[in-house]
Amino acid sequence: NVQTAPTIPEVKVTPISKEVTILFGSQTGNAQSLAKQTKQALTEQGFDVTLLSMNDFKPNSLKKVQNLLILVSTHGEGDPPDTAISFHEFLHGKRAPKLEELSFSVLSLGDSSYEFFCQTGKEFDQKLEELGGKRIHPRVDCDLDFDEPAAEWIAGIVQAFNEATSVNQTSSSSLIETASIPATTQASNYSRTNPFQAEVLENINLNGQGSNKETRHLEISLEGSGLTYKPGDSLGIIPKNDPKLVELLLKELQWSEDEIVTVNKQGDVLPLKEALISYFEITVLTKPLLENLAKLSANEELHNLLAPENKDKLKEYLNGRDLLDVVQDYGPFSGSIQDFIAHLRKIPGRLYSIASSLEANPEEVHLTIGAVRYESFGRNRNGVCSILCSERIEPGDTLPVYIQSNDNFKLPENPETPIIMVGPGTGVAPFRAFMQEREEIGATGKSWLFFGDQHFVTDFLYQIEWQGWLKDGNLTKMDVAFSRDKAEKVYVQHRMLEHSKELFNWLEEGAVVYICGDEKNMAHDVHETLISIIEKEGHFSKTEAQEYLANMQQQKRYQRDVY
Ligand code: 2AM
Repeated sequence: NVQTAPTIPEVKVTPISKEVTILFGSQTGNAQSLAKQTKQALTEQGFDVTLLSMNDFKPNSLKKVQNLLILVSTHGEGDPPDTAISFHEFLHGKRAPKLEELSFSVLSLGDSSYEFFCQTGKEFDQKLEELGGKRIHPRVDCDLDFDEPAAEWIAGIVQAFNEATSVNQTSSSSLIETASIPATTQASNYSRTNPFQAEVLENINLNGQGSNKETRHLEISLEGSGLTYKPGDSLGIIPKNDPKLVELLLKELQWSEDEIVTVNKQGDVLPLKEALISYFEITVLTKPLLENLAKLSANEELHNLLAPENKDKLKEYLNGRDLLDVVQDYGPFSGSIQDFIAHLRKIPGRLYSIASSLEANPEEVHLTIGAVRYESFGRNRNGVCSILCSERIEPGDTLPVYIQSNDNFKLPENPETPIIMVGPGTGVAPFRAFMQEREEIGATGKSWLFFGDQHFVTDFLYQIEWQGWLKDGNLTKMDVAFSRDKAEKVYVQHRMLEHSKELFNWLEEGAVVYICGDEKNMAHDVHETLISIIEKEGHFSKTEAQEYLANMQQQKRYQRDVY
């Protein structure tokens, strides 16, 4: 919407530099892949683009950057991804420089079912402005279905930079229209937006009879897809909702299941039942969804729940309930089905850390999926994708899949580097991939696995394989913690503490530490344990031990894949 005059020979404004720095902070790889797309779009327009993960960027060189783009996700309770922590701290600390010469823009990724939606992106955006930077294009906050808003942001960035750099030239808008934004950077035609229909070859329960758990081992064929992956990458599955839950919802909504509805801006149509099974998210609630549904309702209780003074009540309501609860509690809603479903989010893909090495299993990918079942608010609830895989998928069926690469969880380049793997429960999955790969390439570095689960007899996932690797020397050490075999709980971190001296020696020898699994409890406690091990064995203060671990993280010697 900036009108550029045809030719202005002597303009006072100095065109900004054509050098652009793109920094991304990615947890699962989405921010990274969008950053690559941004680079490509700008490169095609003749910009000189430097693309870096935030933890590879030297904060001291920030003063020299004129044009900065930040793409960052938020996770947990409004926290930056691991790889963004140090840069985020730097910008928010005393050493942050004045940035009066800087032009910037931020793309933030998040999930509106979390209270602190896109918090990290918002913080970067605000901070850069406070430090004197000029926002060249408004920040865009993306929800899970980020493709469209992100593509608009990229197009907006290209336009803004073209205009800012071409004050001496004619309008650049014609260039923008032709600026292509690649949907994928992979060699395969298949991606998150165009998943591959992959055949399931094997689907077994890894837990023994009597276990409290059900952990599925899936073997999936990638034959004909051209999809490739590295150990540490994830497989995305686009799941379908449970038809039984959809039936309950349809009954409650009292709309015909055959009614044809438009599901997206592109005008794709589906019968209502099919749309609720395979297109829309119905098991997670967000504040924006309730706000929008409230517009279709005179229900006072619903309007009350959304009042600013009831913030905590709303948070509590959103947690552990689904769309059926909303319809039961606050329905009926006025307007057409179309008005109603227009507010639903598209069902997002679920990411699983890959449990196999492609080198060892050509054209196959293996997953370790924990079946999620729980009861809340008087109803039995199921994890959408895990229960699809455990109850409704058999060998011969297909699943829509894509590869999500993850540069933040990778085997060391040097196969002689020692590795320490901490992966209780399904967190062990990527370490099976690591071991398969190391066996395949003949890696000679030492390796140490810490595994934990409830019971030795029923829950020792892939027991035979670990013992095989121990025996042939591919795995140097293994320590296990079965938490419910004895009166007292033992967890992986207790085993780490028992071996603190040796573990610290490995760190001093340059070992890489990997943690995979539950973030909130396990990964947090293991992190604290690592700090106390470093403190004790290295004779450091707590602060020094924290710095030691932060340095390891900076050197990519402390990598986490947590969820
Ligand atoms: P629990 O269920 O008996 O408490 C895999 O789920 C294993 O992780 C289980 O043995 C589980 O033990 C354990 N676990 C639970 N909380 C943990 C924590 N904070 N740190 C480490 N392991 C934990």
